Amino acid sequence: MPNTHKTLIASDVIQNRIRELAATIDHDYAHLQNVVLVCVLTGAIPFFDALSDALTIPHEKASIRVSSYGVGSRLSTGDVQVLQPINMPLYNAHVIIVEDIIDTGYSMQAVLELIDSESPASVSVCALLSKPTRRIVDVPIDYLGFSIEDHFVFGYGIDVDQQYRELDYIGYFET
Ligand code: IMP
Ligand code: MG
Repeated sequence: MPNTHKTLIASDVIQNRIRELAATIDHDYAHLQNVVLVCVLTGAIPFFDALSDALTIPHEKASIRVSSYGVGSRLSTGDVQVLQPINMPLYNAHVIIVEDIIDTGYSMQAVLELIDSESPASVSVCALLSKPTRRIVDVPIDYLGFSIEDHFVFGYGIDVDQQYRELDYIGYFET
């Protein structure tokens, strides 16, 4: 771990916020059938698992993988590649997309287009983090863990060149 990093969001703060999000989603989806949580791989996995555990409504789990960055790049491009399509039909489902972080918005825009093309009954977006000052394309966020400043963050599933996903907190490098 680089010695110039700081904790942005501690583990217990993340876990408490996830319980709050789950309670809100439980309430909003209480009377709906066919709820599907879609994990945007790989970064959203810890968030997705904790959220799914905290929900009391019945739900199915699916996943999708898109590429956000070119190798060695830290800026998303509008040219998002689908690396693994949705692994479940979503026709008539109430879909909740679970993402780690929304930065420029390009990745979520692409995921929303893919999911919309499956004709679900409804779609909402649940993101652990958002960096609003970085947004290039506007995307709706129905459930948000934390709005953060423009730090390059890592931990709790979020990587820097595949490292630091295993941390149970969100950190950032001091600049
Ligand atoms: P966007 O397409 O620019 O919104 O970027 C979304 C994806 O880029 C996220 O799902 C992350 O995988 C990655 N990303 C965005 N910001 C960060 C960051 O601060 N640290 C690590 N990955 C990030
Ligand atoms: Mg991601």
